[in-house]
Amino acid sequence: MVGGPEGSLLRPDNCFLFADMSLVKQDRAAWENEYQAGKWENLANSPDFARYKVVAGWIHSFGPSLSLLDVGCGHGVMLQHLHLERINHFTGLDIAESALNAIQPKREQDSYVCSPIEEFKPSRKWDVILFNEVLYYMHDPVSPLRQFEKSLSPNGFFVISMHKKNNPLAFNNKCLRKVRRFVREAGYEMLDGVEIRRLASPTAWELLKVRPRNGARQP
Ligand SMILES: C[S@@+](CC[C@H](N)C(=O)[O-])C[C@H]1O[C@@H](n2cnc3c(N)ncnc32)[C@H](O)[C@@H]1O
Repeated sequence: MVGGPEGSLLRPDNCFLFADMSLVKQDRAAWENEYQAGKWENLANSPDFARYKVVAGWIHSFGPSLSLLDVGCGHGVMLQHLHLERINHFTGLDIAESALNAIQPKREQDSYVCSPIEEFKPSRKWDVILFNEVLYYMHDPVSPLRQFEKSLSPNGFFVISMHKKNNPLAFNNKCLRKVRRFVREAGYEMLDGVEIRRLASPTAWELLKVRPRNGARQP
């Protein structure tokens, strides 16, 4: 890949290192290596449990039956927190094939797409589009939101989750501020927003449930 986010250095393992010591992967090989090495296996039982439950609650708040696009779905941990009988179609999009291969269960009505987000051309609409811990791996964390605005069905919405660090200058936090500013300036409807903070550690996440303006409201 050519170039990296501003102020970063490209390391031999294809990760970008920032001045605040944040490491960001924006490369297919780096993600494949991590999934093959089992680095993400513990996500299902991790401290992220409470966060997944809030995300799942928001997804199901669409209604009794819905379609879901999980952008940067990884090995499908989100599916373990959903009532699958209420998901009439799931599309999992990820750059890492090893992650997609590990998704369970694989259902006939679902699709699994191995592609960089930036190159994905949607051929349908979804009720909920989820950006779960993925936006800060983009060169521009806001571009996937713009890209999928027209891919929401009537009354559809985005669910965004982003990990927040203690240092306000951390790369994650800069991305989060960009996303918040974009949501405000683009006139998105804020359906809900929460911060989840673990009491026993400095870990926190910010979660947004938003609907693009003029995007997807029922006529
Ligand atoms: C931190 S993991 C989150 C996985 C999952 N969303 C979850 O929360 O359980 C980030 C995921 O984004 C994927 N990813 C990163 N950059 C990507 C890109 N440009 N296009 C598609 N997927 C990407 C990675 O392969 C990885 O599975």
